[in-house]
Amino acid sequence: MPAAAAAQMIKDECLVDGNPTLNLASFVTTWMEPEAHELLSLAQNKNLADQEQYPASNEIQERCINMLASLYNAPSNGHGVDAMKEKEIAEAVGEDPAVAAAAAELQSESRAVGTSTIGSSEAIMLGGLAMKWRWRQWRAKRQAQKEQDQRQSGEVSGSDNTKSDVSGTLKGEGWATSAVMANRSYGPGSGEPPCNMIFSAACHVSLLKTCKYLDIEPRIIPLAPGQYTLDPDLVMEAVDENTIGVMVILGTTLTGAFDPIEEINDRVTAYNEQHGTDISLHVDAASGGFVAPFSHPDLKWDFRLERVKSISTSGHKFGLVYPGVGWIVWREKKDLPEDLVFHVNYLGNDEKTFTLNFSKPAAHVLLQYFVFQRLGREGFTSIVTRCLANARYLAEQLSRTGVVEIMSENLQPGGRTVPLCVWRLKPDKQLRRLLGFDERDLVHELRTRGWIVPAYSLPAALDDVIAIRIVVRESLSHETCDLLLHDIKTKLVDLMNKAAESARNARKLMRATLKQQARGATGGKELLIEGAMAAAEQEDDAGDSDADRADDEARAALAVQILGAVQPSRPHARFHGVSSVIQPTHHGKTMTRVSGALHAGLRAVGLEHDKHADDKVEDAAAAAPLAGGKPELSAEGSSASAAAPADTKEGHRHKYSALLHNMLHAVHGRASSVHTGTAHSEATGKSKHITSTIC
Ligand SMILES: Cc1ncc(COP(=O)(O)O)c(C=O)c1O
Repeated sequence: MPAAAAAQMIKDECLVDGNPTLNLASFVTTWMEPEAHELLSLAQNKNLADQEQYPASNEIQERCINMLASLYNAPSNGHGVDAMKEKEIAEAVGEDPAVAAAAAELQSESRAVGTSTIGSSEAIMLGGLAMKWRWRQWRAKRQAQKEQDQRQSGEVSGSDNTKSDVSGTLKGEGWATSAVMANRSYGPGSGEPPCNMIFSAACHVSLLKTCKYLDIEPRIIPLAPGQYTLDPDLVMEAVDENTIGVMVILGTTLTGAFDPIEEINDRVTAYNEQHGTDISLHVDAASGGFVAPFSHPDLKWDFRLERVKSISTSGHKFGLVYPGVGWIVWREKKDLPEDLVFHVNYLGNDEKTFTLNFSKPAAHVLLQYFVFQRLGREGFTSIVTRCLANARYLAEQLSRTGVVEIMSENLQPGGRTVPLCVWRLKPDKQLRRLLGFDERDLVHELRTRGWIVPAYSLPAALDDVIAIRIVVRESLSHETCDLLLHDIKTKLVDLMNKAAESARNARKLMRATLKQQARGATGGKELLIEGAMAAAEQEDDAGDSDADRADDEARAALAVQILGAVQPSRPHARFHGVSSVIQPTHHGKTMTRVSGALHAGLRAVGLEHDKHADDKVEDAAAAAPLAGGKPELSAEGSSASAAAPADTKEGHRHKYSALLHNMLHAVHGRASSVHTGTAHSEATGKSKHITSTIC
């Protein structure tokens, strides 16, 4: 196949992929500056694993690691600090080469080490692996101590066949791995007990994978209503001497919240002191690693805490790089057991490798360095601040609809969260009945407008809760938030109307079936059905029941509240889409009903039915795009007349009718009609004929 044809075929097929900018499900970066694209194409054929061939790319990786170590307050962090210390040491030790070498060795020991990875998942697995190895080192040390104590006291070693050798690099041992294993304190026949790792049920799947792949028992701490992070009390209940560590999360996947890392650090430290254990913390900072240092610089979650031995983060999330890069940094060199560092020489020099895979693109590391250089702390701080403000804006606006409960911690400034807005429909049973749909229906409908927003159930214990998550990335501007809000609100009302309509149709169908059955029934059944049929006929005669009418009015009021929940600074948007209010009330007798419900709704959004409110109504009507000035409506049929006195009940109703007419026209521009009217614009001097679906 010619290259052009093959490429075209793939391009065509990818047309059905979603639009990445509208993909609000993903944390992953979907936009970078044009210069980043240049770097991408410059480096796309470079393999970072080839350290000998691509020394510059590897040096840039080292710089990124040092910058991250510095950002995360590693005890010895970054080139600048090390260079200064090295100078001090050199001056202090004078010319003595042996002392200088020892000092340099000491210095390099205390340096943070790390690597780039393919995302946080790989980094988390490396963090878990190192944790498990450190636990083995601790066990071996403890066992050696025990044996020594026994020898000193003349006791013979017991049945525990744990050996003390965990140094275990493959040096000089060739490939006879099984022979090496047989000598170790772990592996088959070693007597090593199962180890465990603790984390919350709000974890990402990569933590579960880590446990499965590395044969670690996951001790998963359940969530509780309103408690979506790791509970320190439950952590301490789960901990024992075979706990390799606690994986704490800075910005959970489910709600974006930060685990209480400092408290867990302190309690684990106290436990270690009491029990002689060496339990440590790994921070899964997939999202928070590029948020918290800028939004909460004083929050202690990183290497400032003594038990935090490693931190992983996703460069391709709030690190603002295209998909394909993550990072892990260990507090000090000794926290990455030497046993996990492999040496290879088949690409030229002796090269160290401690990642799960070998080859990987150099380009994304260069992009990360580009972003660091381009933005600096100041640039990151400004972007993170804006994203958090947009997330808060979404949360505030959604909660004003009255039907939404915000689950992320972003209704208050300074909330401990990454830029997410996580929410659900309020659990109130009566509200849910009136709405008649759930979160999954809503996100499905939003997909028809191009928005990709996930709805997912929370983990066990809260699995009846369905959450909707909007990730507020750099590319989601305030204006796009407004578009999204508009679509969410409109869909909320449309779905409610559709649900009410289909419930009404279902009831009609049931009545019709009942009648049919009654007509055809024989052999005593007719007696049974007769009563029901009479009732059905009565209902048909009466049309909707009082309960139906009450529900319709409640829905209309809800709709006004939902649609009106827009910032007062945006009056043009205040009633956008209000025509939906009246869709469920279409039985030819609804104008007064709608008007009544509209009163309630208008009260809910602050347009009370008083003299002051009349002005606001006038303003709102004038703001409707059609009006162009103060609208005057003369309606044919049963409805409004502009001449109706303003202060009478009749006058108010006419105003609301005029408002509805204007807005209907503004929103739909067309509608079939029983109701008609003419709007006159003083500004343009033109009159327009309006038709609507009110009755
Ligand atoms: C808390 C957390 N950890 C780990 C991951 C996995 O990250 P990645 O996709 O970079 O492998 C995610 C992804 O969303 C996450 O939210």
